[in-house]
Amino acid sequence: MKMKVGILGATGMVGQRFIQLLVDHPQFEVTAVAASDRSQGKTYGAACMWRIGGEMPAAIRSMPVQPPAPPLDCDLVFSSLPGDIARETEGSFAAAGYPVISNSSAYRMDEDVPLLIPEVNHDHLGLIEKQKRRYSSGGFIVTNPNCSTIMLALAIAPMHASFGVASTVATTLQALSGAGYPGVASLDILDNVLPYIGGEEEKIEAETTKILGKFVDNRIELAPMAVSAQCHRVNVVDGHMAAVRVKFVRKPELRELRESLERFRSLPQELGLFSAPARPIVVRDEQDRPQPRLDRDAGNGMTITVGRLMPDSVMDYRFVVLSHNTIRGAAGAAILNAELLVARGPLGTRSVP
Ligand SMILES: NC(=O)c1ccc[n+]([C@@H]2O[C@H](COP(=O)([O-])OP(=O)(O)OC[C@H]3O[C@@H](n4cnc5c(N)ncnc54)[C@H](OP(=O)(O)O)[C@@H]3O)[C@@H](O)[C@H]2O)c1
Repeated sequence: MKMKVGILGATGMVGQRFIQLLVDHPQFEVTAVAASDRSQGKTYGAACMWRIGGEMPAAIRSMPVQPPAPPLDCDLVFSSLPGDIARETEGSFAAAGYPVISNSSAYRMDEDVPLLIPEVNHDHLGLIEKQKRRYSSGGFIVTNPNCSTIMLALAIAPMHASFGVASTVATTLQALSGAGYPGVASLDILDNVLPYIGGEEEKIEAETTKILGKFVDNRIELAPMAVSAQCHRVNVVDGHMAAVRVKFVRKPELRELRESLERFRSLPQELGLFSAPARPIVVRDEQDRPQPRLDRDAGNGMTITVGRLMPDSVMDYRFVVLSHNTIRGAAGAAILNAELLVARGPLGTRSVP
């Protein structure tokens, strides 16, 4: 029996990825889709401008788009709602007893909400227990990080575990699909780079220390590292990139650093979770990689690619990292979180809602 899932924000860029990635999923089946009042009452096929490759799955096309409010006919909800409405809406689903697996920023920094990358901080799932104080219904919220934070935190996690990251500086080059649809006006981005993405730098700086923090005494002890981010929107459809510099507590040899990335595997790989890539991180040695067009689909969009790994004359080392922003950075990340919750968390045992 598959679990029934609802998607909030199902017609957007991330919502469409959810639909695409869940079409043949062995554990989850989409049974409800919800979006704004612009779309409600229409069929999904009529409401959604399908903007990702391939065909809109036939089974979804005729589904009615519903308001994003409980009750929905599902056992859990994936949310890809805009941050400003996600807090109230996601909270109302959790209060009504639904597990909420969210992409939005609304709850990421709450002290009782896991900000999860299953390969990095699966022990943070322990925070869910604390949400029983907030939601007596048994509902809860789990979030995945911002799309640029995910690739930065995943890349530096093995380095931090082995050598201690004292500080990191990241300069991002972020794809257009990261701004949703219709997103950035063409006259603003053609022949151009925009050196500002609202709220993004603050999110990367705050979220990274929570993700890499330790789960001690039922709370997260933030990782003691300085994180600095500058974000840019570039004329690329999919695939966020970041140029990163790192200073270590104990400076490793280049060979040791490379090995820590290459050999990195974690619980999702051990458990064989359906969306877990065989290798979370691939290191490339060609001098002109990674590139969005060539590397964003590595591991079905769930592997991040690191290249240009070399000593740095100001910090200790530098590298470039790339990931698929709507897969590893959003829908794929949330689905992997849900798979972990089935394998090791409350979704494996509960009857919902
Ligand atoms: N794009 C990425 O790479 C990415 C990565 C990580 C996280 N995120 C986060 O994921 C969320 C969605 O991003 P997106 O790129 O998919 O945005 P998007 O393309 O603009 O889609 C937004 C979705 O939310 C719905 N919506 C908008 N206003 C609503 C309202 N007032 N009530 C109910 N539904 C409403 C839209 O429905 P209609 O179609 O009916 O308007 C649409 O389904 C955001 O919080 C974003 O920060 C995005």
